[in-house]
Amino acid sequence: MAKAKTAYVCSDCGAEHSKWQGQCVECGAWNTLSEFVVQPAAKPVVAARGTGYAGAASGSPKVTSLTAVALAAEIRTLTGIGELDRVLGGGLVDGSVVLIGGDPGIGKSTLLLQMLGTLGAQMASVYVTGEESLAQVAARAQRLDLPLAPLHALAETCIERIIEQALASRPRVLVIDSIQTIWTELLTAAPGSVSQVRESAAKLTRFAKETGTSVFLVGHVTKEGGIAGPRVLEHMVDAVLYFEGESGSRFRVLRAFKNRFGAVNELGVFAMSEKGLREVPNPSAIFLSAHSGPTSGSAVMVTREGTRPLLVEVQALVDQSSLGNPRRVALGLEQNRLAMLLAVLHRHGGVAAYDQDVFVNVVGGIRVQETAADLPVLLAVLSSLRDRPLPEKTITFGEVGLSGEIRPVPNGEERLKEAAHHGFLRAIVPRANAPKKGKVGDMDVVAVERLSQGIDACR
Ligand code: TYD
Ligand code: MG
Repeated sequence: MAKAKTAYVCSDCGAEHSKWQGQCVECGAWNTLSEFVVQPAAKPVVAARGTGYAGAASGSPKVTSLTAVALAAEIRTLTGIGELDRVLGGGLVDGSVVLIGGDPGIGKSTLLLQMLGTLGAQMASVYVTGEESLAQVAARAQRLDLPLAPLHALAETCIERIIEQALASRPRVLVIDSIQTIWTELLTAAPGSVSQVRESAAKLTRFAKETGTSVFLVGHVTKEGGIAGPRVLEHMVDAVLYFEGESGSRFRVLRAFKNRFGAVNELGVFAMSEKGLREVPNPSAIFLSAHSGPTSGSAVMVTREGTRPLLVEVQALVDQSSLGNPRRVALGLEQNRLAMLLAVLHRHGGVAAYDQDVFVNVVGGIRVQETAADLPVLLAVLSSLRDRPLPEKTITFGEVGLSGEIRPVPNGEERLKEAAHHGFLRAIVPRANAPKKGKVGDMDVVAVERLSQGIDACR
């Protein structure tokens, strides 16, 4: 066999170099180049004939009308775990590659094993474990009360041998736990290195597409919060799901970060119990902390991540700073947005926080990415600064613009209904989101157009 050609690829920007160097010429990042195999042409991993798989690549590709393709595409199977199906966009798609990331111990292995258990005899599956022994996997499956007979596992880390085994046992679902432990014989780099991870993932992706097998890759998360390995891993797969949650809280949130088959930012909510992960089908109020009375520095917002509204509490703590450069810390929100909001608060609300440390946190360890959090964040900050709670049973949402205007957010009516349903009595929302009669059920709706009006509404 001829020696495979290698190239050096930057893990930040993906630029290719013919030899190793300390700095990437394209993006200027240091120490990001690592070795990769250059594939001469997309050679199928599976020999076309004799595998018996439908859709195995045969001959060279031909131009095809999409009407002929669309009918055959996207066969979905429900996994039996409703919240997972929701995040996947309505079930598992044949031949799709899904990357699941999350902190260690958050429940990635548990969720996937439970999924294979509920798929059971419906779909043949193989669970490839590179981290735990077969005995550990079996013990966990037993503890989770899963049917053991349809569960097939393989303890292997070499990608060539995994594919060989998969071709022999022909599963319809293949779980790789985790991609960081997998290595290919083609490269000399250590397992877990960027090049090994990328090359192994590329092989698995090709395998999935050629055989119609659904592949799940478990990925570890680095300290910075990204999936370890190059960004290219995220480009290569069909869906990227992140498992989030606060340590200490039993709730876990699975979020679609990218999905070629469904909505992004869709959330699935689970609770970790002694019998594994349980679904939380109506999660709208679990992210509220149970205060016995009004507390300053707390605002409840209605976020709409994915396709359903969620009530979430935003907390702020504003404290006299001893630093020349006061701290702005945002957990579950974007840091830069917080700095921007504080500037708007100063210019258009007349409230200065330049000598204050500002900490903002979203309760429950979930992440709110939409701009509807702007107004709740500012009201929570203001409430903490003045040590005065917001009026009781109040919800709020709305985007804040740089000129101090409050802009509407999508699906206002649905958010208001959800809040009224949970017994809230007052809502402070953008004018365009407020109903004309000023009420939703028993809840009064205060419409605001400027930040100053929002601040007045809290008195
Ligand atoms: P695990 O799925 O191993 O996490 P990951 O694969 O993401 O690293 O989850 C392990 C954690 O979940 C561990 O801290 C124990 C806890 N757990 C339960 O609370 N109940 C259970 O039934 C199981 C299987 C795990
Ligand atoms: Mg694990």
